[in-house]
Amino acid sequence: MNNDTYIITGRVLHFIDEPDIAAENSYEYYKIGALVIEDGKIAYCGEAVEAIGRFPNYPIVDRHEKLIIPGMIDTHMHYPQTEITGAYGEQLLEWLETYTFPTERKFSDKAYESDVSERFISECLKNGTTTAMVFGTVHPESVDAFFEVSESYNMRNICGKVLMDRNAPDYLLDADLDTAKRQTEELIHRWHNKGRQLYAVTPRFTPTCTPEMMTIAKELMDTAPGLYLHSHLSENKGECAWVAELEPEAADYLDAYDRYGLVGPRSVFAHGIHLSEREYKRLAETGAAIAHSPTSNLFLGSGLWNKKACQDYGVRAGLASDVGAGTSFSQLQTLNEAYKIQQLQGQKLSAFQSFYFATLGSAKSIYLDDKIGNFEVGKEADFVIMDNAGTELMKYRQSHSHTLEEELFVLGTIGDDRSIAETYVMGVRVYDKERGAQRPAVELKAVV
Ligand code: GUN
Ligand code: ZN
Repeated sequence: MNNDTYIITGRVLHFIDEPDIAAENSYEYYKIGALVIEDGKIAYCGEAVEAIGRFPNYPIVDRHEKLIIPGMIDTHMHYPQTEITGAYGEQLLEWLETYTFPTERKFSDKAYESDVSERFISECLKNGTTTAMVFGTVHPESVDAFFEVSESYNMRNICGKVLMDRNAPDYLLDADLDTAKRQTEELIHRWHNKGRQLYAVTPRFTPTCTPEMMTIAKELMDTAPGLYLHSHLSENKGECAWVAELEPEAADYLDAYDRYGLVGPRSVFAHGIHLSEREYKRLAETGAAIAHSPTSNLFLGSGLWNKKACQDYGVRAGLASDVGAGTSFSQLQTLNEAYKIQQLQGQKLSAFQSFYFATLGSAKSIYLDDKIGNFEVGKEADFVIMDNAGTELMKYRQSHSHTLEEELFVLGTIGDDRSIAETYVMGVRVYDKERGAQRPAVELKAVV
């Protein structure tokens, strides 16, 4: 038996379906529950009594009445922008020029990139985020630095080198198309499916990518199975007008990607706020996803994402912080703003739908629900122990919560990093409040 084989007990909650569709059949909740972890995977999820009966020799880690949920999944982040979180006063295009591009310039220095990667990943774990889909910069070393840290924690993360060859400062453009292609091929070869790491071909967005770069992005997508396409779509009205000028032959913004074969399963587009009916339909029929980034959309004044339209048309959607335009690493704080965005449009985001969104829903949007997102037997054991008493106020407020639904709603409203007691990756504890983020001590095993 390895030390990543044990029983952990507590109040266990996970989703098996979408609450807006399956209602009370969408989740399983065990008040005196347990997860059985065998070699980093879920061997059992259910009542504690049964777990102990079926696995009598396994050590027990007792978390009393603490809530245990699957690790949260963040479907769109920019790790190099960590240091400009909360930069004042601009909308998207000016924000990119004023803050983002000068900051991303610094990422040609491996030591700098490693330091920021370390801080970024520690911050994810502190917030209960166990998987993220992440932009690097145009510099290939930025991706090496990120994956090296991600791999050392055995996290399942997705990252890619940014591709861009127009409308940005010279210092941040790819040297030429061949170099961009070769560097990306090398990164794919080095990192895609190495342990739990996955690669995303990452054309930044239409304004910074020529048709030739988009063609290369498609060629790169065809070099290995399971690659992701990670980009931005219809975030800001000025951006949308610019895309219409740059790509006059495209039917709309989505078509500016589609024409190059870049819209399909595992294509993830951040934002998707200002979409036409045709674009919703096309996203749905191709199986592409929107990464909804509420704190960013409010911070940059981009607009209000229409959750109902995505649901009605059947568009996949995941939850995203979009750090650093987004203002918090916490998916709980991200849910807080997501709720308000729906409120402003007369729509609802229920407590159960919120926690589904942050876990299984996001896993589905990025086609990883066969591996993560809930506690089905055989899945990778990424999970979080919540702390309802993270502050005096949280403790007091939760002492007045009468149902699981109310408890979750309060967590997704006033909760933040202080609501996370411990974070586990592949069954190994990699964060707890007292010690902070800690690399796994056990020898890592290859993930098949
Ligand atoms: N669109 C193109 N690049 C970016 C970026 O870095 N952040 C956001 N929010 N939108 C973008
Ligand atoms: Zn972004």
